[in-house]
Amino acid sequence: MKRVIAIYPGTFDPPTNGHLDLIQRGAKIFDELVVGILRNSEKSPLFTVDERLEMLRECTSQWKNVRVESFEGLLVDYARLCGAQAVLRGIRAVSDYEYELQMAWMNRKLDASLETVFMMPAEAYSYLSSRLVREIASLGGALVDLIPASVESKLRARLRVVRQDSK
Ligand code: PNS
Repeated sequence: MKRVIAIYPGTFDPPTNGHLDLIQRGAKIFDELVVGILRNSEKSPLFTVDERLEMLRECTSQWKNVRVESFEGLLVDYARLCGAQAVLRGIRAVSDYEYELQMAWMNRKLDASLETVFMMPAEAYSYLSSRLVREIASLGGALVDLIPASVESKLRARLRVVRQDSK
C-alpha cells in the first residue's frame, strides 16, 4: 500500500498554536508528516534550531505519525531524502497566497513530482504569526491561546536574557 509522506517546512521561531493546528490537520490526512525546521535561514532567529526542535518535539509528541527534524539546503532535496511526495503549507489569508504560490511554483520547477498542499488553520489562528508573537512578548503583552504554555515560558525567559544583554 502506498504511504504518503509530507514535509511541513518552516522557521518556527517560535512554534505557535497555528503551526500546531496545521500539524494536527496534516497528521490526519498524511501517513507520515515530517516537520522540517530550516537550518540555513537568512533570518537571525531568537531560538537556536536545537531549541526549536526540542519545543516542537515536545508539543507534537501526541501525534505518532509526526516527526520533527531540521534541514539545510533546498526543500526539494530534503523532500527527496525523506521520500516525501508533498509539501504542506498553511495559508491564513489572501496576503499569504502570493508568496506561497511563488514558492510552490518554484518548487514544482525544481521537482515536478513534488506536490504542494495548502491547508488553512482554524479561524482563531488566521492572524497569528511567529513574528507577532515575538513582538507582543517583547512588549509584555498576553499570549493566551496563541502559543503553548511551554513555549511561552521559554520565550519570556529568552527575552529576559536579550533585555539583560542589551543593557
Ligand atoms: O516559515 P517560513 O519562514 O515561511 O518558511 C520558509 C521555508 C523554510 C519554507 C522556505 O524558506 C524554504 O523552503 N527554504 C529552503 C530553501 C529552498 O528550498 N528555497 C527555495 C524555495 S522556493
